[in-house]
Amino acid sequence: MSQIRTRIAGTGMNVPERVVTNDDLAQRMDTSDEWITQRSGIKTRRHADHGTTPTDIALPAIERALEMAETKKEDIDCIIAATLSSQHYFPGTAFFVQRALGHNSIPAIDLRAQCSGFLYGLQVADSFIRAGTYKKILLVGIELHSHALEFADRGRDVAVLFGDGCGAAVLEPTTDGSGVLSVHLHSEGTHAERLWLQVPALGNDPCITHQDLEEGRQYPKMDGRFVFKHACTRLPEAIMEAMSTNELTLDDVNVFFFHQANLRINELVGKMMGIPAEKAPFNIDKYGNCSAASIPMLLDECVRDGRFKRGDLGVMAAFGSGFTWASAAVRF
Ligand code: UT7
Repeated sequence: MSQIRTRIAGTGMNVPERVVTNDDLAQRMDTSDEWITQRSGIKTRRHADHGTTPTDIALPAIERALEMAETKKEDIDCIIAATLSSQHYFPGTAFFVQRALGHNSIPAIDLRAQCSGFLYGLQVADSFIRAGTYKKILLVGIELHSHALEFADRGRDVAVLFGDGCGAAVLEPTTDGSGVLSVHLHSEGTHAERLWLQVPALGNDPCITHQDLEEGRQYPKMDGRFVFKHACTRLPEAIMEAMSTNELTLDDVNVFFFHQANLRINELVGKMMGIPAEKAPFNIDKYGNCSAASIPMLLDECVRDGRFKRGDLGVMAAFGSGFTWASAAVRF
């Protein structure tokens, strides 16, 4: 019998309905369609309406993934939610998702590895499945950024980049030769403050002050150029790790699923590695940077429109806050 691997049985995605264009943002802060398009490749993103929760965004994506996997929600035996925009400080978002799905005893795990969160979650799920611990894992990347961005001149460098969305995957064991071939995870906490949201935080006492609020520390801050430079180094390293571990050539890989942080980063990395543009699809133009949701959203789009078919080989790679970076090779 061939070895047990983790198969992606179904995928799904969902984004809020409200489309926010670069021109819309230019009415709220000193920015322009030209600046945002040239620097990032983003044209629109989706923003959740007031009152929407991360769980609300996740549920339709989960429903679609369950439907594709021909799995009933009752059969899910573990939920992993990768997110940096947690529904509450605690408990984790995964528990709200669990409740909404009508479960009341299966484990629900929040995973905080920011933009690499889906790949960190894939590694955790893969270990559970290969060990026989759980048999139907729901892995979701959920982000609701727009309720915590600073839509003003001070926050413009970050606010224009991020969008809301969810990507979901149903994972199960298989022995048919498909599934997760490898995952490689990395981090470098030395650079934690280069892309972070500082308060409220229990590392501070008191955890938030009026001065923090006045100075905008409750909004994400990024040293863009520094992050850009590191992303352009770490992503190729991570991709090479996936390729060499599995002895793959570029021809073997059908689709490269890059984290969608900046189209320029992905084009540069693609060029450096000789990856043909048609093998590196993107949706950042439509949805902006959806952090942990970016890769599973792109995966679902490619599965549904036929760009990534059963039997195809995909290499996924992400870089983000932490710093974290990661890659995975998956036979679909
Ligand atoms: O998903 C997690 C990982 N994240 C990333 O990988 C993101 C990495 N970084 C980036 O993608 C890019 O650094 C950005 C898109 C964030 C910025 O592009 P950049 O070419 O590095 O621009 P910059 O930060 O060096 O800023 C250039 C100029 C500055 O003005 P001065 O100092 O040259 O006068 C900024 O103040 O652009 C200004 N600027 C803006 N102008 C218009 C910053 N934000 C904006 C804005 N609109 N929204």
